[in-house]
Amino acid sequence: MNNSMIDNGNPRHIAIIMDGNGRWAKKKLMPRIIGHRAGVKTVRKVVEYCVQEKIEVLSLFAFSSENWRRPKKEVNMLMELFMGTLQAQVDKLDKNNIRLRIIGDRTAFPEKLQAKIISAEQQTEGNTGLNLVIAANYGGRWDITQAVQKITKKIVAGELQAQDITESLISDHLTTSDLPEPDLFIRSGGEERISNFLLWQLAYTELYFTGTLWPDFNQALLVDAIKSFKSRQRRFGHTGDQIVKSSNSKTQ
Ligand code: IPE
Ligand code: IPE
Ligand code: MG
Repeated sequence: MNNSMIDNGNPRHIAIIMDGNGRWAKKKLMPRIIGHRAGVKTVRKVVEYCVQEKIEVLSLFAFSSENWRRPKKEVNMLMELFMGTLQAQVDKLDKNNIRLRIIGDRTAFPEKLQAKIISAEQQTEGNTGLNLVIAANYGGRWDITQAVQKITKKIVAGELQAQDITESLISDHLTTSDLPEPDLFIRSGGEERISNFLLWQLAYTELYFTGTLWPDFNQALLVDAIKSFKSRQRRFGHTGDQIVKSSNSKTQ
């Protein structure tokens, strides 16, 4: 078997930076919000595909901690779109056995939105199908910072000591603590950067970039990304030969 053709199976966790909504709208001489609305349609298609393929976790970057820097009008419209989509989709997600959670600093959101988030999470809490994670007012640095704060509180309370701080303890305090780390990261829209998404969690994730703008992203492109993922050899620091040997011994 060709080393680079080792079949890894489907990724358990796919993380996506959904980028390019604004440029998509601009190309069509339309306001940016139209691009964001079109982007929501793509989200629905991608979620459907992940349910069909029995992917365990799909994480979507919806609004970064830096996106507050955008014009107030766009920020407000994005909040309204988020709120409206949550309201309109939660029953459907629930019916499809999807567990929804929102990661990020939600204290900055309008109270009505915060309440909607809590109720959507509670409604879908017992679901055992796809874990749909929406990162909203999320930043990878924020996630690590809030983990450090939680750990420090435990140290101050005498529940932990400095030597108890290990990588796994830090992972356990991140917002994604009970989820596997992303196997496949996809960014649409042509930029090849992480933009402060899941910094800690992406340490060994396979990265996939596509120039397609998010509203034009579709199932076929997702299949391409998964195909590319499956063709890669994940070594996690080992040599390629070690990986081939261990996968041969597993198949024997
Ligand atoms: C991604 O699309 C969505 C959000 C960041 C909310 P953009 O709005 O960044 O689209 P471009 O990059 O300007 O095309
Ligand atoms: C990243 O996209 C955040 C989201 C998709 C929500 P941006 O468009 O904000 O990223 P930069 O500013 O180009 O790095
Ligand atoms: Mg962008």
